[in-house]
Amino acid sequence: MTKPRPAAAAVPPSHNLAPARRDFYQEIAPAHLAPLWEVLGALVTPEPRSVLKPHRWRYADIRPYLLKSAELITAKEAERRVLVLENPALPGQSCITRSLYAGLQVILPGEIAPPHRHTQTALRFVIEGKGAYTGVGGERTPMHQGDFVITPSWAWHDHGSHGDGPTVWLDVLDIPMLQFFEASFREGSDSDEARPEERPQGDSLARYGSNLLPVEGGHGHAGSPVFNYPYDRTRAALEQMRKREEWSPWHGLKMKYVNPVNGDYAIPTIATFIQLLPKGFETRPYRSTDSTVYVCVEGKGRTTIGDQVFDWGPRDVFVVPSWMRHRHEPEADSVLFSASDRGVQEKLGLWREAKEKA
Ligand SMILES: [Fe+2]
Repeated sequence: MTKPRPAAAAVPPSHNLAPARRDFYQEIAPAHLAPLWEVLGALVTPEPRSVLKPHRWRYADIRPYLLKSAELITAKEAERRVLVLENPALPGQSCITRSLYAGLQVILPGEIAPPHRHTQTALRFVIEGKGAYTGVGGERTPMHQGDFVITPSWAWHDHGSHGDGPTVWLDVLDIPMLQFFEASFREGSDSDEARPEERPQGDSLARYGSNLLPVEGGHGHAGSPVFNYPYDRTRAALEQMRKREEWSPWHGLKMKYVNPVNGDYAIPTIATFIQLLPKGFETRPYRSTDSTVYVCVEGKGRTTIGDQVFDWGPRDVFVVPSWMRHRHEPEADSVLFSASDRGVQEKLGLWREAKEKA
């Protein structure tokens, strides 16, 4: 039988151990060890403490820069001619939130952004212009203002324009998430030309977006097989639903874009939403753990985020950091598109919200 060891003597609180601790930290550093007790409070916080800053990008300010970029580099040379929307708290890190990348992409008439594919999933929310298209897996879809277009993970895609002016869309990708997982793969094409059309235009929407599903065969990737959610259909649905005048005090009338095969978010990694806020409505203060990127599609108003007020109009983009109290005040009937990592957080049991009464 071994005798139980006596408990270690408690360190007297008056004893100054700071120099000895510093020496100890230096001693263990070469062994790639570090004391948790020095960082625990910052790692495991009582509630989210976002490093992000709320911010709004006015489209009127950005558009001249987009056009200037088009004078400096072709879509083909750039591969994707995009100005990245960087969160002001994270310059140089190519992200608008900790989990999402966003940028504004411009394409001119006759240009082609050549085919490639990557494991990052992208959404395109069309901001301006007519006559552009996105090709996904051999099907081309026209891009109209307000359309929500998806390029799924590892699907070949390209963009082009037959229009007579610039087309601009907001790209949102899960790039930071894939960086975190170190799971990025990318493949270019041998050709700079657009991939040939192999399926008729509108095929995916007809096949999967008409309250019908094929009885045989799958579509081969995790997200929605519908890759264009046209704005005219979305807007008409919102207009029909508003007749009941059932407004959420926190969201107005807010709907999520879904994968018609399983009812999940249309993109596994990026939850997307559309919401209608009637003129004069004021949402109650709201917080959630998903930092969110908003685009004003129609209308005008302002959003108070923390203690800052950001007014917005059509085509403006703004970002609300995780767990930051915010409220919307539309001055006209307004439609907001938004994107976040809520779907991922929900799947992991992490997502939380706080709805305040006033
Ligand atoms: Fe791409």
